[in-house]
Amino acid sequence: MKILLLGADGQLGGYLHRTLPTLGEVHASSRSAADDSLRCDLSNPAAVHSLLDRLRPDLVVNAAAYTAVDQAESDVDAATRINAVLPGLIGSAVANWGGAVIHYSTDYVFDGTAHHPYTEDDATAPLGVYGRSKLAGEQALAATGVDHLVLRTAWVYSLRGRNFLTTMLRLGAERDTLSVVDDQHGTPTSAGFLARATTHIADTWLKERPHARRRGVFHLTAAGAATWHGFATAIFDEVAASGRLPTKPSVRPIATADYPTPAKRPAWSVLDTTKTLAAFGVVPPDWRSDLRKVLAGDYDAASST
Ligand SMILES: NC(=O)c1ccc[n+]([C@@H]2O[C@H](COP(=O)([O-])OP(=O)(O)OC[C@H]3O[C@@H](n4cnc5c(N)ncnc54)[C@H](OP(=O)(O)O)[C@@H]3O)[C@@H](O)[C@H]2O)c1
Repeated sequence: MKILLLGADGQLGGYLHRTLPTLGEVHASSRSAADDSLRCDLSNPAAVHSLLDRLRPDLVVNAAAYTAVDQAESDVDAATRINAVLPGLIGSAVANWGGAVIHYSTDYVFDGTAHHPYTEDDATAPLGVYGRSKLAGEQALAATGVDHLVLRTAWVYSLRGRNFLTTMLRLGAERDTLSVVDDQHGTPTSAGFLARATTHIADTWLKERPHARRRGVFHLTAAGAATWHGFATAIFDEVAASGRLPTKPSVRPIATADYPTPAKRPAWSVLDTTKTLAAFGVVPPDWRSDLRKVLAGDYDAASST
């Protein structure tokens, strides 16, 4: 099977690049791919068409996205091109040769007013440009009629790149006290878990008979819920317990109102993953044990898939 991985240099893309080869031959595309034929600026539709037409992959896994949530508020065009338009371009091309697409979306498609974990059937109502652009991308992909899965995830982190975990580890080494928002609830989900789960899902899904193959949106996160403050506290507890941080900073809970950002974020964006468990047998780890695995380097071990 020929697989085209888009966004291979991102945090999730990096882990997918390690796990997807168990399924087939992986062609990893990014803006800075060493192989000229896989280097692609995905905001350029002609370049996207040329990449897809040349490879004609059986499966496209799209981990590329415009993920700067605050910057998106003032950079609507760029966020729209990658998050809203690109999934439709991919879907309409891949449908031509009967291929399949796995794409990712976000908990930020919801407005956060629910009091239960959001299911795939709950009404969406994004609060900002990023969430709106990601929702438009889900819809554009579905409208092409291609075989597709949209995996909605949340609060993605890893030991690589810029994310909440790496930011906390940096700030924790520099400061004695940190203030972290304690009134937004979600589920920290490691990129390593997501990559392994995606690979398992793809394997199961592609073995389904083509005409009976499931399509649509599935929620995929770790289990449980936390606030950003709870997540930060857990990070420092775990790191201090392993002796990697000489002194634990004090983490002060603050309200969202005390930390104004350009983009409004949902106060509650926990996702219900029951449908994904039923369809593909993915049992999500508790977010805290997932964090321990990340910090222990389990997802970075050479032989891990
Ligand atoms: N991060 C989160 O907390 C979170 C939460 C919910 C859902 N998600 C979703 O999960 C998926 C993976 O996110 P992630 O955290 O891995 O994001 P990430 O680390 O920001 O990676 C996104 C990748 O997309 C690439 N990209 C952006 N614009 C591009 C362009 N014009 N041409 C080519 N590549 C381009 C970036 O390339 P460069 O490296 O060249 O910039 C980057 O490598 C996304 O669909 C995201 O919306 C993420």
